[in-house]
Amino acid sequence: MPNIVIVGTQWGDEGKGKMVDLFSEYANVIVRFQGGNNAGHTLVVKGEQVILHLIPSGILHPNKLCIIGNGVVVDPGVLIEEIEGLKEKGHFKDSENLKVSEEAHIIMPYHKTLDILRDKARKKGKIGTTGRGIGPAYEDKASRVGIRMGDLKDPKRLKERVNLALAEKNFIIKEYLGADPLNPDEMFEYLMALSDKVVGYITNTSLLLNKKIAEGASVMFEGAQGALLDVDHGTFPFVTSSHTVAGAAATGSGVGPTVIDGVYGITKAYTTRVGSGPFPTELSDEIGKRLQKKGAEFGATTGRRRRCGWFDAVAVGHSTRLNGLSGLIITKLDVLSGLDTLKICIGYKIDGEVRDDFPSDIPSLENAEPVYIELPGWKEEIDKARNFEELPKTARDYIGKIEEILGVPAAIISVGPDREDTIIIKNPFEE
Ligand code: IMP
Repeated sequence: MPNIVIVGTQWGDEGKGKMVDLFSEYANVIVRFQGGNNAGHTLVVKGEQVILHLIPSGILHPNKLCIIGNGVVVDPGVLIEEIEGLKEKGHFKDSENLKVSEEAHIIMPYHKTLDILRDKARKKGKIGTTGRGIGPAYEDKASRVGIRMGDLKDPKRLKERVNLALAEKNFIIKEYLGADPLNPDEMFEYLMALSDKVVGYITNTSLLLNKKIAEGASVMFEGAQGALLDVDHGTFPFVTSSHTVAGAAATGSGVGPTVIDGVYGITKAYTTRVGSGPFPTELSDEIGKRLQKKGAEFGATTGRRRRCGWFDAVAVGHSTRLNGLSGLIITKLDVLSGLDTLKICIGYKIDGEVRDDFPSDIPSLENAEPVYIELPGWKEEIDKARNFEELPKTARDYIGKIEEILGVPAAIISVGPDREDTIIIKNPFEE
């Protein structure tokens, strides 16, 4: 049974929620391997809207093991809220279906405070973070003062870890941010009050996952955000603080890369971005507004309006290479219906020179003038199409052009928000 990584190839919000929900049917185990509750999936279950930020949406399917891997940063308050919300609505019946890595780092209340205060202090260079404490939690992991989920199982160790973390944090809070220092005892009590509700889920998830794989389970590694927000390969510093590319599926869940059989990249048929940072194909005209409206481009986590633009094959080409994509999952093709002409960016003109690689420095990206090819659009709505052949010729040509430029075949095309509004050319989970 194949083990498949699903990642975003743009700046996040590519429509992973629907796809991950669709594939949960075929996988036995679903794993989150990076990020935290900066992500957000909106799903409709039996007519009821469910928004999940942390727990893999596979939890809504019976008998699927959902794992929050070591690479994720966990806000225990959010975790409990999601568990309780799901249980209340009858969506999560068997507690054995959720496991959280003992090695996953905890997002502490001060991480959120620091995240918000810091971004505010950046003024013009503001990243526009989600304010969920993601960056500061990863910082503490790298500087080895973070507190891990496993520490909740051992109050003595937990106390030591809290004291160690706060010695340094309080210096920053007091001296740099001019705010009141935090009381280590109160912080310890805060964690102890939450721990009872989560310790039952905490385990060695790497061991568990490898065992499941050895028994023949099929695993879906569910990426959050997108490759252009990767802390190394994205538009640094306007990025998130984790590795969002497929390689992180191995390190973030404790498996070897050789267990991965395929990587599928979710790609919106146009481009969107929330938060700050360069966006070469951004449209500030009527077409941009139309994409925003028709595509309902508002963030599930922060409710912010997403910036919209044409499909950027230079940026997605960069992601294709970084992720080693086996196939493309093209979403929201229906949002482009009704436009006379469509544009695809195939190069950037920077300082008079046209290039087709994605620059790693912000000034080049800010100066990049997109070089477009134009293709005819289609007038008719396409949400009823279930086979590739049922799409208008111009829509097929648009997909064909993207495949040709990227050198990767399209496996799935999404033509509407519902599960059924999907054209499956090749199911990644069927060998
Ligand atoms: P952080 O992840 O909260 O630190 O935010 C860093 C940047 O990543 C900001 O521009 C956010 O808007 C963006 N970001 C974080 N998570 C997501 C996501 O799930 N979708 C889209 N953008 C995201």
